[in-house]
Amino acid sequence: MENLLITGGAGFIGSNFVHHILDKYPDCKVIVYDKLTYAGNLDNLQDVADDPRYSFVRGDICDMEFVEDVVQEHKVDGIVNFAAETHVDRSILEPGSFIQTDVYGTHVLLEAVRKFGLRRMVHISTDEVYGSVVEGSSVETDNLLPNSPYSASKAGADLMCRAYHVTYGVPVVITRGSNNFGPYQYPEKVIPLFITNALDDKPLPLYGDGLNVRDWLYVLDHCDAIDLMLHEGRDGEIYNVGSNHELTNLELTETILELMGKPKSLIQFVEDRPGHDRRYSLDSTKIHGLGWRPNHAFENALEGTVRWYTENRWWWEKIKSGAYDNYYERQYGTRRVLTGS
Ligand code: NAD
Ligand code: TYD
Repeated sequence: MENLLITGGAGFIGSNFVHHILDKYPDCKVIVYDKLTYAGNLDNLQDVADDPRYSFVRGDICDMEFVEDVVQEHKVDGIVNFAAETHVDRSILEPGSFIQTDVYGTHVLLEAVRKFGLRRMVHISTDEVYGSVVEGSSVETDNLLPNSPYSASKAGADLMCRAYHVTYGVPVVITRGSNNFGPYQYPEKVIPLFITNALDDKPLPLYGDGLNVRDWLYVLDHCDAIDLMLHEGRDGEIYNVGSNHELTNLELTETILELMGKPKSLIQFVEDRPGHDRRYSLDSTKIHGLGWRPNHAFENALEGTVRWYTENRWWWEKIKSGAYDNYYERQYGTRRVLTGS
């Protein structure tokens, strides 16, 4: 790809992917297209702002006319779509924007790929579309049983990608990643929320019994997998991207506190999330067949992530102070405390 449109490139995974592409491919131009919602942050791209291969366009993926203008103007030949509303708790409060961006917005991008004959689109999806997996692991052909407005919207987008491939032959590849962590993750997601709370000796609100299981994938390993899909994925195919590192939220929280030298008494059990999926688990045999494996050991990557938030208060303090967004705190920062400090 010579001119890559990275939608949602000012968010967590998208900005890590922009860095990955600019570092690895000297001849690739990157156009970040992002609405800059509360989750989009140009601080994430500060260090590439002067790179002549990088440009930024503020826009909404639901705006078909503007997407088409940008595709033509920049001679875009490929799209990687990270743009989405992404937080489950917000989707419970306000599903509409999830349906709009995640489903309709994906359709707009597929239309652009079709209309201008782009070489490839990689659509970034999630393990959450399979729903809660009590036993075993999900394979790509499993039924979709999403339980939250977020995962239902993501499932809708996946099905739209499938339909565009089958009906119009649009060259789209879908990745379904597990829970990511690393630098630049908005501190509403559990790992950056808990690290930054612990740095300030504030309670860590653990939902329900703390025994829900997630599979933790370091963001740079995810970026490697997306890069592979861009170049070697097969059109119309879906690829799970998991790390096989499953932990209960309690185990995860205790590990974070241990790494930071903070007391377990910071853990505060709070009212559960409605519809809280018990476990996600991916079988990633298919992408292993193309040579991808996670390269980062979990503990080292988590330690590096703790260090990054410790050393980059400038990045998260202004977000958490409510300067950008206090909607979440107002609406949802008041869960009933069950036990703990
Ligand atoms: P994020 O919330 O950090 O970033 C989303 C970005 O999309 C932001 O920059 C935001 O401004 C932008 N955006 C939102 N609505 C838009 C719109 N209508 N038009 C243009 N831009 C818009 O999200 P993330 O954690 O980086 O996730 C990126 C993608 O990866 C999402 O599609 C998500 O579903 C998927 N995913 C995330 C995880 C995870 O653990 N974070 C795991 C698997 C898959
Ligand atoms: P989250 O980071 O929101 O990702 P997702 O819901 O997409 O998996 O949450 C990860 C897990 O952590 C999930 O089981 C919910 C739990 N959690 C808490 O216990 N407390 C919190 O404050 C948050 C944000 C999440």
